[in-house]
Amino acid sequence: MKDNLGSRLCVVIGGANGIGAACCRLMSSRGWRVAVVDLDAGAAESLAKEIGGSSYCVDIRSLDSVEQLASDIEREQGPVYSLVVSAAAFQDRYPPDEFPMDLWRSVMQVNVEGTFNVNRAFGRRMVRERKGSIVNIASTVAHGSSPLHAYGPSKAAIVNLTRGLAGQWGRAGVRVNSVSPGATLTPRVTARPLGRYASDVNSQLALGRRVDPMEVAEGVEFLASDRASAITGTDLLIDAGWLTASTWGLYGGVPAIESEAESPNE
Ligand SMILES: NC(=O)c1ccc[n+]([C@@H]2O[C@H](COP(=O)([O-])OP(=O)(O)OC[C@H]3O[C@@H](n4cnc5c(N)ncnc54)[C@H](O)[C@@H]3O)[C@@H](O)[C@H]2O)c1
Repeated sequence: MKDNLGSRLCVVIGGANGIGAACCRLMSSRGWRVAVVDLDAGAAESLAKEIGGSSYCVDIRSLDSVEQLASDIEREQGPVYSLVVSAAAFQDRYPPDEFPMDLWRSVMQVNVEGTFNVNRAFGRRMVRERKGSIVNIASTVAHGSSPLHAYGPSKAAIVNLTRGLAGQWGRAGVRVNSVSPGATLTPRVTARPLGRYASDVNSQLALGRRVDPMEVAEGVEFLASDRASAITGTDLLIDAGWLTASTWGLYGGVPAIESEAESPNE
């Protein structure tokens, strides 16, 4: 489906892999011009080639580099209509008193400071243009309890940052929202042994399965587009019912449903 967005420019930070790459592919197929931005210059370039977009390399931890990026993109391609921020740092599990503090700081630096840096640089330009839409990628863990004692708080900070900026820039016609994916089958996740999670992940999810990166991209593209013109400061959970089913463990988990063939009523 092509909508009426014509050739509006979307910048996807962390666009070279996983959910960001799915956003680049989907948005390109919907008629957006896409700038793929990532720390991984080679992967960004090859995806840009595949979708007919452009690519840029940046480390979002550096405000100076991010400001330079925003100014380069604007000079080369004109105003940015939409910003998607999917870049993140991840962590293994540690009890709080064994948590390496360098790791804790680096997760915060990418996820909180980095996300703020790009929102600040691109948001200021959108305010000047009196239009724009930002979608920050948070996580289901922002909304509940998890053993990820840096990643979890960093994602909660992204949800709150999003709400603050939505209030700050709303009167200038700039919308700021977040999307919270649940367990999503990106290559980074599927490459890891399942033992990182509970033994049967799918039984913890209302829909009984994990999320495809393209399903996250659908929500992101919706929020980025004018179809979401009255939506700002919200967080959209795309988690196959992980959060909603999180208390079902006390009752033995979400029930399995008999297959159609076995059901007596069908
Ligand atoms: N995959 C999941 O299950 C899941 C679940 C919830 C939330 N999320 C969130 O979705 C987003 C994408 O996750 P993913 O699984 O696609 O990850 P990914 O590792 O596949 O992609 C992240 C991209 O960000 C880039 N990046 C990392 N640090 C950067 C930096 N400092 N500057 C610029 N780019 C940088 C990486 O090079 C990579 O291309 C993240 O915000 C993550 O927290 C993912």
